[in-house]
Amino acid sequence: MKPYKKLMKCYKSLTSKVDFKPEIAIVLGSGLGHYADTEVDVCATLDYADIKGFPKSTVEGHKGRFVFGNVNGVPVVIMQGRVHYYEGYKITDVVLPARLMSMMGAKVLFLTNASGGVNAEFNAGDFMLIKDHISSFVPNPLVGQNIDELGTRFPDMSDIYNKKLREIVKSSAKDLGIDLKEGVYVQLTGPSFESPAEIKMLRAMGADAVGMSTAVEAIAANHAGMKVCGVSCIANLACGMTDNPLTHEEVQQMADKAAPKFKRLITECVENISDAINSGKV
Ligand code: HPA
Repeated sequence: MKPYKKLMKCYKSLTSKVDFKPEIAIVLGSGLGHYADTEVDVCATLDYADIKGFPKSTVEGHKGRFVFGNVNGVPVVIMQGRVHYYEGYKITDVVLPARLMSMMGAKVLFLTNASGGVNAEFNAGDFMLIKDHISSFVPNPLVGQNIDELGTRFPDMSDIYNKKLREIVKSSAKDLGIDLKEGVYVQLTGPSFESPAEIKMLRAMGADAVGMSTAVEAIAANHAGMKVCGVSCIANLACGMTDNPLTHEEVQQMADKAAPKFKRLITECVENISDAINSGKV
């Protein structure tokens, strides 16, 4: 099925089950799934499996559902679990949920993830505001017939992680006393972790953190006219930077450990971003 047809099918299925207009869309990365269970005044939930045509998430530790509700009065839609390219989905399926949340009315997409630190000054457990990305190692989600209903054929990507939103995230972290690094995120396909030589290459290219998600979602969201921001939890130092082999469990454990602080940051950001939207500053 063509991406736009599939998207409309999902949209119709979703809106026939849930009537909710979000202001902000949030994607929860590894370790953060519980945010939706503890920090949100939940109005409705919808399993991805119950949306006709929706790609399903299969990775352990990722729940697959939308949560609709309010974070301190701000209407949000949350993806509890995302769809990864390494699971075997087409890249257009990977970005379908982000497009869907845009169609529901969300103006801002707040992306979170767990990543490997490439910058030698980072430590496991750090948070990094994504200031830009390198997506050149994964297929572009806009390849194929352009969906004119969503956006233009050749969209600009010069402010992909919106500058005003970045300032809000920075000041929110400062207010909470949370140390926030800033850097460039590079998306690779995974699912294997990188080799030491690849990490050296990525560092030489200007990457600060590496992961297997996020950049393509940011591209599709920008294309659809959303404003995007992203925060990454540095769950481990990338391959070759320590003597230990990397495991998914290690990544998950550090992401879980950082989750309470991450949750506070997200809530503070949601409130401040909503204020900025409603006063016309974003
Ligand atoms: N590499 C790629 N993706 C990741 C990593 C990593 O080291 N850690 C968490 N996600």
